[in-house]
Amino acid sequence: MSTGVEENLKVKGARAAGAPSGASAIDLLHGSILYLNGITVSFDGFRALDNLSLLIERGELRCIIGPNGAGKSTMMDVVTGKTRPDSGQAFFDRDIDLLTMSEPEIAIAGIGRKFQKPTVFEELSVFVNLELAMKASRSVWVTLRARMSGEQRDRIESVLETVGLTECRTLRAGAISHGQKQWLEIGMLLMQEPQLLLVDEPVAGMTHQETERTAELLTSLAGDRSVVVVEHDMEFVRSIARRVTVLHEGQVLAEGDMDSVQNDPKVIKVYLGE
Ligand SMILES: Nc1ncnc2c1ncn2[C@@H]1O[C@H](COP(=O)(O)OP(=O)(O)O)[C@@H](O)[C@H]1O
Ligand SMILES: [Mg+2]
Repeated sequence: MSTGVEENLKVKGARAAGAPSGASAIDLLHGSILYLNGITVSFDGFRALDNLSLLIERGELRCIIGPNGAGKSTMMDVVTGKTRPDSGQAFFDRDIDLLTMSEPEIAIAGIGRKFQKPTVFEELSVFVNLELAMKASRSVWVTLRARMSGEQRDRIESVLETVGLTECRTLRAGAISHGQKQWLEIGMLLMQEPQLLLVDEPVAGMTHQETERTAELLTSLAGDRSVVVVEHDMEFVRSIARRVTVLHEGQVLAEGDMDSVQNDPKVIKVYLGE
């Protein structure tokens, strides 16, 4: 199905003339799914992001940590089109210029974001929540009336399996646990087949067991797609992290594996000073 927004994306040539040019820029972008360069966001003169540059590789699972107010959520707001930066560049999938696109255009282009609070339809079943999240669905009522194809059913089944909710499929979403709701919401994002998944504090309020299960889930999701996780729970970050980026005052303070980051004097100072 071709929608107005998809057409618009094509016509606009979001793979745009503004893409980073020159051999060195292209080398740098090779394989990257997200490229932020010199992003600055000011709120009344206060710089929530201050010349921030960040590169996420295709298939990577990246953890972003940093004290409260470091700019983590603002970074996600820029990537998803919720906040426009004052300056800088943001490219998705090498040459899709995010700064020229609206929030829905960015979602359709393949960036999914999970907010802290689950936003599932509590009165509807787990299965129907996933059904409604399917890419083809344009309105709740059209979707509920339309007959689902076998293929669509299979996709829902497969996502139920991935997020571990097969047994809960007929339960009301309001009746499942907090952790299960978070997984359902991740499942709803997966129905849209994003290439890049942004997840803000997924394990807040989860039990130990749910936290472990979430670590497994996010790890399994990377590879086929890229996953960026913002999280405060250090034990959790350690359990999933390959590459960790520490944000502080709107900039990258340190980047590397968990051990190098945790032993970095700059990082230690920031966390002890909190
Ligand atoms: N809409 C806004 N208006 C004013 N200040 C904001 C707004 N959004 C975020 N900020 C400020 O920007 C800074 C970064 O916030 P945020 O990105 O939410 O940090 P984090 O997610 O790392 O805790 C904070 O000081 C916050 O108060
Ligand atoms: Mg935040």
